[in-house]
Amino acid sequence: MLILVTGGTGYIGSHTCVELLNNNHDVIIVDNLVNSQAGVVERIATITGKKPLFYQADATDDSVMDLIFSTHKPDGVIHFAGLKAVGESVEIPLMYYRNNLLSTMVLLDNCLKHGVSHFVFSSSATVYGDNQVPFLETMELRPRTNPYGETKAMCERILTDVAQVNPELSVTLLRYFNPVGAHKSGLIGEAPQGIPNNLMPYITQVAKGSLQELKVFGNDYPTPDGTGVRDYIHVVDLAEGHVAAVEQAAPGVHVYNLGTGKGTSVLELITAFEEANNLKIPYRITERRAGDIAECYADVSKAREELGWTAKRGVFEMCRDAWRFEQIYAAEV
Ligand code: NAD
Ligand code: UFG
Repeated sequence: MLILVTGGTGYIGSHTCVELLNNNHDVIIVDNLVNSQAGVVERIATITGKKPLFYQADATDDSVMDLIFSTHKPDGVIHFAGLKAVGESVEIPLMYYRNNLLSTMVLLDNCLKHGVSHFVFSSSATVYGDNQVPFLETMELRPRTNPYGETKAMCERILTDVAQVNPELSVTLLRYFNPVGAHKSGLIGEAPQGIPNNLMPYITQVAKGSLQELKVFGNDYPTPDGTGVRDYIHVVDLAEGHVAAVEQAAPGVHVYNLGTGKGTSVLELITAFEEANNLKIPYRITERRAGDIAECYADVSKAREELGWTAKRGVFEMCRDAWRFEQIYAAEV
């Protein structure tokens, strides 16, 4: 299949391009580089031996997207492009609503116009909010009160409504849990700008010595060791989940959790990182972070049964690969 991958030079998108190419699909990347670099295309080519087509373009630009669709006639779209910083979405909500909703609508419109029947959307476990764990696809959505989470729930709604009146359309909503790690080559991975918001990139910065210590946000949650529990998933497992999703796409709306089904606490992740990489991560317990929930992990049975996909890589591998990427990438930039 020929897959149009928006956000394909970003963290999850780049790993998915690698897995698509490794599985003999062709790839066209559209990315405006607001949070990634064009050099990623070359790195994807180094890993796979195949260079994807790349357009530096904005997925909200209808005329450019129309041209790309009519020129290449893709079989499917995987829509990763989006803004994703929860805190920033509270500060500049309009930018988040505009970018995340408009890109989805423009792409969907072009799918209908050009007869593209497969649409895979990057959603997030954030749509479950404070439901009871493990999160199940059938639960009522309760996006936490931040504009980022709202954009994910709204895009899911838009895609579902449009699919209902276009029965030939296949919409797959993939709810990611906490993607971490990197490709084993160390050539692609997560490289956030500035001080990281998320746990794993923060840990790698501490390991590198760029940040002094990790702040553990609260140890008084109702969890086994009091720190927050999350379902960390290796980004390559996540990428493989996308290949399974595009290959099995069938008309209608399909929702899948992509996680491991296992919860890991902040302290457990620190210990795993130390053991996997044989180094020490200085940390200090601080106040809870506003908006955090105690526990977030997936029920993964639906993806296993319907897509035949399960995550294979464990926390040790996630920590080892995240650190390898940091060392290789940091040595080059
Ligand atoms: P990322 O920022 O690394 O990748 C997103 C890419 O989209 C970037 O390369 C950026 O330049 C591009 N982009 C943004 N707006 C664009 C636009 N209008 N037109 C073209 N390109 C645009 O983020 P990621 O971690 O790879 O996340 C990919 C998707 O998965 C996002 O939609 C994100 O919300 C979602 N998601 C991520 C996580 C996570 O923890 N990383 C969790 C759940 C869901
Ligand atoms: N944490 C710390 N210190 C830090 C950073 C995080 O203790 O410096 C803790 C958090 O309190 C939480 C856990 O580590 O308990 C994980 O936090 P992350 O920020 O890495 O991830 P979140 O689960 O809070 O959020 C992520 C994405 C969201 C997405 C959500 C669900 O950032 O965009 O997963 O998919 F919505």
